[in-house]
Amino acid sequence: MHNAKPSGDIVFPELTEDVVGRIAATADARVGKVMETLIRHLHAFVREASLSHEEWRNAIEFLTRTGKMCSESRQEFILLSDILGVSMLVDAVSNSAGTGLTDSTVLGPFYSGRQRELEDGDTILLREEDGPPLIVEGTVASRNGAPIRNALVEVWQTAPNQLYDVQDDAQPEGHLRASFRTDERGNFSFKSGLPVSYPIPDDGPAGQLLQMMGRHPFRPAHVHFMISASGHRTLVTHLFLCGDAYLESDAVFGVKPSLIVTPEERDGSQRIVYHFGLEPLD
Ligand code: BEZ
Ligand code: FE
Repeated sequence: MHNAKPSGDIVFPELTEDVVGRIAATADARVGKVMETLIRHLHAFVREASLSHEEWRNAIEFLTRTGKMCSESRQEFILLSDILGVSMLVDAVSNSAGTGLTDSTVLGPFYSGRQRELEDGDTILLREEDGPPLIVEGTVASRNGAPIRNALVEVWQTAPNQLYDVQDDAQPEGHLRASFRTDERGNFSFKSGLPVSYPIPDDGPAGQLLQMMGRHPFRPAHVHFMISASGHRTLVTHLFLCGDAYLESDAVFGVKPSLIVTPEERDGSQRIVYHFGLEPLD
């Protein structure tokens, strides 16, 4: 342990006030508020942790490596935000939950934009996969239960080898992802394969940090959904499979009990039925 000041004794308080004072001319009031909050919390963090020069250099070097790891297909800063619970916290402060609304969760780094639109009941597989077949049947409704027709339902998930198509050259592009439109009763359905739990990419700084903190990189098996409908807030969520070993320790803190489903077997397929409630924009 290096020198910590006695508690109650704030180190160099006038520095914080000087820095905050110098952003008083910030043109955008929201930017000014966010920057002031950031500066105050960062200074408080440095004081409370009593950071040494070496530790701060290590932190800067860590963030530099995080930036260098980013590419078209890899977003290491999102992973960092996810494993520290920041992504879920941003979601919690900016999304409302409540009766008639489906809980949201993290987007993650593997959404790869709008995909081909399929017909109701089509498969999202572009090639055969081993593993149990899955059927998903959903309804999309407004908070008051009124069905939403023509909602755009975008879905994506991993293959049985624990990889998304964008991580795996062996998978055809667009494998295990697609979009659908709800019918006049708000219904949609598709065929797929049962998702599996998988490790988030852990060969970079986020993975090293997980290891340093004694944490595993796994996420419990899930299917991703992004549901957009006019007059409603876009819902970004997942459905998780009950019984998964990682439900209690998701590496990115994304599990909410209302999103855990128990598939039922029907004609050799696992079947999930779920009602999605969207928040109307007033
Ligand atoms: C995902 O579920 O695809 C994901 C979310 C956060 C980090 C990595 C992957
Ligand atoms: Fe995922």
